[in-house]
Amino acid sequence: MNKVKHIAIIMDGNGRWAEIQGKKRVKGHEAGAEVVKAITTYCSNNSEIERLTLYAFSTENWKRPRLEVEFLMKLLDKYLKNELPSYLENNVKFEPIGDTRAFSKSLQKTIKMVEEKTAHCDGLVQSLALNYGSQDEILRAVNSLKKSSQEITSEMLSNALDCKSDVDILIRTGGDTRLSNFLLWQAAYAELFFIDKLWPDFTPKDLKNIVKQFTHIERRFGGLK
Ligand code: IPE
Ligand code: IPE
Ligand code: MG
Repeated sequence: MNKVKHIAIIMDGNGRWAEIQGKKRVKGHEAGAEVVKAITTYCSNNSEIERLTLYAFSTENWKRPRLEVEFLMKLLDKYLKNELPSYLENNVKFEPIGDTRAFSKSLQKTIKMVEEKTAHCDGLVQSLALNYGSQDEILRAVNSLKKSSQEITSEMLSNALDCKSDVDILIRTGGDTRLSNFLLWQAAYAELFFIDKLWPDFTPKDLKNIVKQFTHIERRFGGLK
């Protein structure tokens, strides 16, 4: 039986969820933030799961209307501040990935604050992908290694990435079957689950079902059984 250490999720479908109900798209993001809480708590109570990486804002999401982007930034700030007690209570370490230098100084400060205050937690690592794009991450890693005269090894590149651990399960909600620039290196041998449910409707039970399916998959990593 496979053991799941690292789950990564493309949390897609917030806008559609709201639109179906005649609400503004941003209401979907608020509902989506509640699901982030529920899924993080669920994972923190499952000792097998070491890492949960959630795609919250991509390097491409800046293309959205300014008001939606601003709302997402405010929501992130609020989420992190409100959730700090639960991170601590559930022994969850917060580790952002992505290039957060593009965010406002005050949001960067909140991100740093939660990172520092949860640095001692040794339960689940919850990684939020913030202004994250896999191609950007790989480029930044390659540039950071450029000074070395040594030939770059796979291990060196892997360690220079924001996210240094391979993904076991990669889930995308919202019905689309693409990776949208998420963890392209780390998901090389991930098991992929594309779920029709929109992110605000996703539940810990859905995750439990996926983990159950995963445990029975034959992972060969290019070898033979
Ligand atoms: C995902 O939901 C959340 C973010 C990208 C921030 P969307 O906002 O992409 O929702 P849909 O896909 O338009 O329904
Ligand atoms: C991917 O969703 C990014 C996040 C979930 C943060 P998008 O909605 O931005 O992706 P596309 O545009 O459908 O590829
Ligand atoms: Mg989307």
